[in-house]
Amino acid sequence: MTHILHLDASPRGDRSVSRTLAKEFVSDWQAAHPEDTVTYRDIGHNPVPFVSEAWIAGAFTPPDQHSPESVEAMRISDQLVDEFLAADRYVFSVPMYNFSFPANFKAYIDQIVRAGRTFSVEPDGSYKGLVQGKKMVIITARGGSYPKDTPYHAYDMQEPYLRLIFGFMGITDIEVIHADNLMGGDEAKATAIANAKAALRSVASVS
Ligand SMILES: Cc1cc2nc3c(=O)[nH]c(=O)nc-3n(C[C@H](O)[C@H](O)[C@H](O)COP(=O)(O)O)c2cc1C
Repeated sequence: MTHILHLDASPRGDRSVSRTLAKEFVSDWQAAHPEDTVTYRDIGHNPVPFVSEAWIAGAFTPPDQHSPESVEAMRISDQLVDEFLAADRYVFSVPMYNFSFPANFKAYIDQIVRAGRTFSVEPDGSYKGLVQGKKMVIITARGGSYPKDTPYHAYDMQEPYLRLIFGFMGITDIEVIHADNLMGGDEAKATAIANAKAALRSVASVS
């Protein structure tokens, strides 16, 4: 049995392409693997808090020194980290905003990247990811496209950062599926969605 964490980051509802693709993927997955379980988190509609001074104080001092504000900040962060660690695989849908992702997604990252919980600092000063043996599918939606061998490839601060930050925590088995060129007209949008669905079906069949 596999436990999936399904997270949506778009603030849009049914009009969201990333959200719609992820919903279909998870639903197909559940039909094929009825024994698997899913936790759903919607940071698009219910954003998590930004890191605050109380959060920082709480994350870097022992619990018996925590103020009530730090206790509350750590309670929220611990809950998000526990949920993240409980999953075997991840299905995250993330729109591209200003060449990376919405601020709500960064807020989520800042809550779950925690020393001693999702990464450690080794005696030699190197970092070790503590989230091992997990698989991740990231579904993006983008108005433009950023193909290799074009000047626009370097504008993509989304996929490289997502691979880096989840890799930092130990997750390196990551499939990134883009629905891109969504603002390229009706035909381009339909083609992009069809291609993303085909890529997701192929991920589901080999996983
Ligand atoms: C605030 C904002 C910023 C955006 N920035 C970019 C961008 O930098 N590059 C891009 O290709 N598309 C950009 N887009 C277009 C979105 O990526 C596109 O509409 C996508 O479908 C949004 O995901 P969703 O359909 O899941 O909501 C932006 C859209 C918004 C609302």
